[in-house]
Amino acid sequence: MTFSVSRRSRRRIAWAAVAVSAAGVALFSAFTYLSPDPASSRIPLNPAIGLHYLTIVLHALPASLVLLIGPFQFAAKLRARRPKLHRVLGRVYVVSMIFGAVAAIVAATFSVDGISAQIAFYLLSAAWLYTLYRGYTFIRQGQIQLHRIWMIRNYALSFAAVVLRGFLGIGLVMKGFFPSLNFADIYTTSVWGSILVCAVVAEYFVINKTLTPLVRKRTAEVHSQAA
Ligand code: HEM
Repeated sequence: MTFSVSRRSRRRIAWAAVAVSAAGVALFSAFTYLSPDPASSRIPLNPAIGLHYLTIVLHALPASLVLLIGPFQFAAKLRARRPKLHRVLGRVYVVSMIFGAVAAIVAATFSVDGISAQIAFYLLSAAWLYTLYRGYTFIRQGQIQLHRIWMIRNYALSFAAVVLRGFLGIGLVMKGFFPSLNFADIYTTSVWGSILVCAVVAEYFVINKTLTPLVRKRTAEVHSQAA
């Protein structure tokens, strides 16, 4: 017996997987950091900085909103049926990301997780803001395809937060088998690994799903004009 899943079904399954995992991490993070008690922190706090926990809260809450909203912005049906909702959620996404990224830069400065993780977080914050800026300016100019490309890149970077937690989980399971592994190495590797995987997957989508059809269409037009 052969099983064939249509391209549309595959797309729906992939969308649901992204939306459900993003919502899981976002809701768990938001509920954890809604608490004013620094003891709720799931990462070690810098004992020299009284405001460290606050910076994590100010980062985690808006970043959770970004993670939650993102998948709905990519749902073509919703965009077509409720364009106003797409615009309103888009504005909430932009403002939340600016707050989340600025707080992330401050939190990274206070972090006790080492220079390698700190540099990864600075670069990720810069890439987060840069891709947001490109996506936003292109839509203001009415360049829908370019807006789409930059927002795929932007959300992929947000999704690094989900992949990071997946890698951390795998790392902790591996630590059970290889006790010499230490948490700092698992954490740093997971941070860099999640950024790399998400950036590569984003480029795969940008090239295969957006640029390739455009190039094919343009090539066909050139051939038909030449004929
Ligand atoms: C993509 C850009 C992001 C950057 C640059 C970033 C940066 C950071 C930094 C610097 C920390 C402190 C970590 C440490 O001290 O080692 C942190 C923690 C945290 N971030 Fe992000 N983050 C990003 C995205 C997100 C997203 C989308 C979420 C949504 C859930 C999120 C949720 C959290 C949470 C909950 C923590 C506290 C640590 C924990 O409990 O796991 N971050 N982030």
